[in-house]
Amino acid sequence: MTPVLEIRRASKSFGSHRVLHDVSFAVYAGEVHALVGENGAGKSTLMNIIGGIHRRDAGEIMLNAEPIDPLDPWQARQLGISVVFQELSLTPNMTVAQNIFVRREPTSALGLIHWRQLNDDARALFERIGIDISPTELVGNYSVGIQQIIEIAKAISFDAKVLIMDEPTSALSESEVDRLFSIIAELKQQGVAIVFISHKLGEVLRIADRVSVLRDGEMVGVVNPSDSNQDEIIHMMVGRSLGDLYPAKGVVSDEVLLEVEGLSHPPLFHDISFSLRRGEILGIAGLIGAGRTEVARAIFGADRYSRGSVKLAGIKLDLKSPRQAIAHGIVYLTEDRKVMGLFLSMTMRDNIVSSSLARFTDALGLLKHRAIADESLRAIKQNDIRPRDDLLSMTSLSGGNQQKSLLAKCLSANPKVLIADEPTRGVDVGAKVKIHQALRDLANRGIGVIVISSELPEVLGLSDRVVVFREGHVSAVLDGDNIAQADVMRYAVQ
Ligand SMILES: Nc1ncnc2c1ncn2[C@@H]1O[C@H](COP(=O)(O)OP(=O)(O)OP(=O)(O)O)[C@@H](O)[C@H]1O
Ligand SMILES: [Mg+2]
Repeated sequence: MTPVLEIRRASKSFGSHRVLHDVSFAVYAGEVHALVGENGAGKSTLMNIIGGIHRRDAGEIMLNAEPIDPLDPWQARQLGISVVFQELSLTPNMTVAQNIFVRREPTSALGLIHWRQLNDDARALFERIGIDISPTELVGNYSVGIQQIIEIAKAISFDAKVLIMDEPTSALSESEVDRLFSIIAELKQQGVAIVFISHKLGEVLRIADRVSVLRDGEMVGVVNPSDSNQDEIIHMMVGRSLGDLYPAKGVVSDEVLLEVEGLSHPPLFHDISFSLRRGEILGIAGLIGAGRTEVARAIFGADRYSRGSVKLAGIKLDLKSPRQAIAHGIVYLTEDRKVMGLFLSMTMRDNIVSSSLARFTDALGLLKHRAIADESLRAIKQNDIRPRDDLLSMTSLSGGNQQKSLLAKCLSANPKVLIADEPTRGVDVGAKVKIHQALRDLANRGIGVIVISSELPEVLGLSDRVVVFREGHVSAVLDGDNIAQADVMRYAVQ
């Protein structure tokens, strides 16, 4: 059988940095082929070459045994290759339907956009894949999770023969993942060849027919999930085994650091109360859309709330901006690094110190460049960001390394309270263990840490207590060593 898509001996360097070396890869019709590897292994680069974003230096791309040479994403899509990129590419202030059909809107004889047709087409597409999203809503009004689904719908709308998904589930809740997997099953039935990139190996083993492993830009092997397992795959990825142990829980003091009382902002959240103690990791669990991020943003001064109060060490805060929050020692690691967290066109160094510039300014208001450089190099080392060159622009970092930079930026601000929203989104299994340890180290130093995560094992493994959100309310606060996943789920959905 001929593969639908085949890469033969592809190589790629950025400057003197060799990112892919002699990589071959094939995917068949009706197959889900997972591609895994550490942050920076070259997964996105390989897919960007297929999808027409980057040019390869050597090698061939074959589509149904014919050599092809996609020069841009548009051309790739015309050939039947659709890529859902790792970073969302939707325009927030356009509607859902406009985003999906941008540059190919149905038009009338006079060349005007046929709006009703446009919206009907979007509706038909959603029906085909079984999702319920309004075509006329602005994309920006939807959560990151829903935006991801819209992005996937858009990719499917090109009648893709090959659908490449670069970490499609990193912002999805468990039920959204189930929905995506049934969409994938449907497309498989229709004979689409699917490439699935993910750091969530549980999901990979669930959905993939084959798994290819990249390490440092080289293909180390292809395995069949039915005769492999997570440990073997991790071993291929990182060259060693990893116990997926969470750091030991800490000693939490009785001293309340942050107290949230009756916080309300209808219709987003209602009467939210919880406390965070010094040295504690407090997990916030719940489905996407339960109001967790909205509450975090309100505490951080990024959004308003209409009632209730937030106290830091017993003193009521009235924060009007994130800047004021940071000045009080409250730092928020955002779930959406592209929109709110990082300045992608700036260097890693400028990003890392961007929340802590006050510390690096002298009496005359001048920046202390030497100290800034020292701090950024220290942070890069501490957070194991690769490559270790802090003058690179953020756009040349892999997704997982961007995430690590975001954490570095938050830590450099020397917080009293750190609110980490999906802190390990897109990072590889090894780096994830390090981030968990870094969060626990912070707590052990007396900092209060709030972790919002859609991955239940992460919330449970990391947290001293867990607050469960449901539809904008706190439905439970769970305490103790053995909080069961099933209990959290029950409070999250009931
Ligand atoms: N535009 C670019 N310019 C320079 N270097 C780049 C560029 N894009 C990627 N790189 C480098 O290429 C390497 C591979 O990056 P890539 O994004 O393919 O990794 P990845 O496997 O997708 O990682 P992740 O799991 O973190 O998303 C990294 O070292 C990255 O810094
Ligand atoms: Mg990537």
